[in-house]
Amino acid sequence: MNTETAKPTVLIIDDDRLLCEMASEFLSGAALKVLTAHTGREGLALCSQNHIDIVLLDQKLPDGEGYDLCPRIINFSENAKIIFITAFPSFKNALKAIESGAFSYLTKPFELKELKLAIDKCLRVSELEKAEASLHYQHDKEAGSSALVGEKGSMASISKLIETAAKSEAPVLITGETGSGKSRIAKLIHMRGNRRGPFMVINCAALPENLIESELFGYEKGAFSGAHTVKKGLLEIAENGSILLDEIGEMGFHLQAKLLGVLDDMQVRRVGGVISHPVQVRIMAATNSALDAKIKNREFREDLYYRLNVLRLQLPPLRDRKEDIPGLTKAFLAEMAPQRKMMVNDADLKEMLFYPWPGNVRELRNVIERAVIHAGEGNELHVSPLLPGQTGIHKDGEPLSVAETILPLAEMERRHIDMAIKKFHQNYTRTAKALGISLNTLKKKAPKS
Ligand SMILES: Nc1ncnc2c1ncn2[C@@H]1O[C@H](COP(=O)(O)OP(=O)(O)OP(=O)(O)O)[C@@H](O)[C@H]1O
Ligand SMILES: [Mg+2]
Repeated sequence: MNTETAKPTVLIIDDDRLLCEMASEFLSGAALKVLTAHTGREGLALCSQNHIDIVLLDQKLPDGEGYDLCPRIINFSENAKIIFITAFPSFKNALKAIESGAFSYLTKPFELKELKLAIDKCLRVSELEKAEASLHYQHDKEAGSSALVGEKGSMASISKLIETAAKSEAPVLITGETGSGKSRIAKLIHMRGNRRGPFMVINCAALPENLIESELFGYEKGAFSGAHTVKKGLLEIAENGSILLDEIGEMGFHLQAKLLGVLDDMQVRRVGGVISHPVQVRIMAATNSALDAKIKNREFREDLYYRLNVLRLQLPPLRDRKEDIPGLTKAFLAEMAPQRKMMVNDADLKEMLFYPWPGNVRELRNVIERAVIHAGEGNELHVSPLLPGQTGIHKDGEPLSVAETILPLAEMERRHIDMAIKKFHQNYTRTAKALGISLNTLKKKAPKS
């Protein structure tokens, strides 16, 4: 890397040659690249040829007023910061300079240390602007790409809740089976809101409780052996952003109490610390476990549950919103094979609509991904051979295969009943007899179509 070009560049436009020389020598020693010009015209020429970060601009130049130059300098270097140098300190001059686009001003005579401070401030602001610009870019890009497929039908109410949640600051609790889209929805709530900070996720089931605690709350130096430095926790790092506490049902009781404290006063105390730090973070939680049962068993704090449950999104499993399957399939294909016009044939689509998708949208996504790989060069997707246990459904008399997944018993029963009904061509009396159950029981248990 060319270190010369990596250094921030300062351009000094001043007819005072001595000042130019002294400032130039001082700033070059402070890891800055310095260019000098003694007239406005020379200065503009340098602006047109170089990338300039900071301009020191004299108020009176041999060929004109300094502030007339400000807009023209900015024209060349949009992000350049101009420090106006004035020998006649008056509020009017300063105001005029700022109005013409200067970032700050210094009054002559000034100490070189003062100059350095002013330059450092410019550089800091430039850095922040750059970081913010890239965050905005990332934010806009992600907001565009993380659309929710299936905002109609049974997802319409979820979609409305997402909008409500995005506009609010209240905690959100997202529940639903594994793979139903809880994490995606949490991110969507963050992206659609006004928060400009990051979206962070911590999985409460993935780490031991003490590690989750230090990840979330941070720690002070010396809090425990190995805490060699101060570390901010995610609740502090996600400043102005959102944090998703995934699998909240698995969070230990001690941490639940600490989290409740944060929700109450939005302050965190690092592990081993005595001072509380205010935090500005939106807290969301997701779980696929039944929190009610955990509350009954005293594994989950009821007060925390109510504190988190301000906005509740209950995601339906994919088998209860099968109308989304074609749209989701289309979206996954557009993402995975954008150049190809891949299609699922009608027979396979029927199978997909029949299949219960115990792994929900994640399973659908994985199946489509595998089907795309299996399709090779062809454009037709063969999805049904990839559906676990599906082989038994249409081959009468054969046992149901569960070669690839262990299905929940209730699901197995549902599918077995369905297969039997098909085998007896919708004759419920014969089906019930064959299954050894009453007609009433069959009617209760039969999948509603
Ligand atoms: N409505 C949707 N539109 C497009 N993609 C979706 C949708 N819902 C879920 N997905 C995709 O399905 C996959 C699983 O979703 P996600 O990780 O959000 O599920 P989850 O409920 O958080 O699962 P877990 O309980 O395992 O954490 C992801 O790849 C996600 O992008
Ligand atoms: Mg998740």
